[in-house]
Amino acid sequence: MTKSTVRPIVIAANWKMHKLRGEAMEFLDELATYMDEHPQGLGSRVEVVVAPPFTSLELAVEHCPPHARIYSQNMHQDDHGAFTGEVSPAMLRDLGVDGVVLGHSERRQYFNEHDGALAEKVVAAAEFGLRPMLCVGETLEERQSGAAEDVVRRQLETALGDLDVIKATSSGLSIAYEPVWAIGTGETATPEIAQHLHAVIRDELASIFNVEIAERISVLYGGSVKPGNAGELLANVDIDGALVGGAALEVASFSGIIGAALDLVAATPSAGAR
Ligand code: PGA
Repeated sequence: MTKSTVRPIVIAANWKMHKLRGEAMEFLDELATYMDEHPQGLGSRVEVVVAPPFTSLELAVEHCPPHARIYSQNMHQDDHGAFTGEVSPAMLRDLGVDGVVLGHSERRQYFNEHDGALAEKVVAAAEFGLRPMLCVGETLEERQSGAAEDVVRRQLETALGDLDVIKATSSGLSIAYEPVWAIGTGETATPEIAQHLHAVIRDELASIFNVEIAERISVLYGGSVKPGNAGELLANVDIDGALVGGAALEVASFSGIIGAALDLVAATPSAGAR
């Protein structure tokens, strides 16, 4: 099976709680230079996303390289209200933010983010024109007990169950499969393990929406992706990108991962999609 040309490959930087504004600006300017020098395929078949912390979002929107998108790392589901410390989808749109990462395992683990609230967040993001990137993934215990597939199917079903079928693609929804045991640990899922779970995710998306929509949704892999392993992961038929933490803090390594995606699309003739 060859790679789909219907879905773009998405390479996303998740900065987590890193970078002051000056560092963010430096990164984005350097990334813009890299992207300028490698225009072939960027913005059409390979999309670049950067998710800075809230404090750098406005600056990131201003310094966003052409053909890249700025995502926030979280948001509240309501457009306004008495929720001290929270940021609403309306506020993000007001800044010019393009999308939002939802349900990252660190939010689930440390901040009690649960699937019920995520279902509301996914719908709210789509309503406000923010592209949702929903993260799913099993813990080490869940994998060892053989529950990985069930856990991921349940996370998808609960978080996406309320999303209108039409919005599933028009919103720019993407999924990030991030096995918790591979995040920040240096331990990457083998391409076989990742491809298997990505196929399970696509199957679940087909049952929640339909086969045609499932074929159009990019499913990213996350968990210790680096320039050295990106190519072999992205080469798999259902792995449509990478959500990158540690290796996305420097342009040198992040652009190495973008480069792996560009090499791959250069080797795969376009069917003229998108
Ligand atoms: P990592 O983080 O690349 O440092 O493993 C990935 C993520 O948490 O999104």
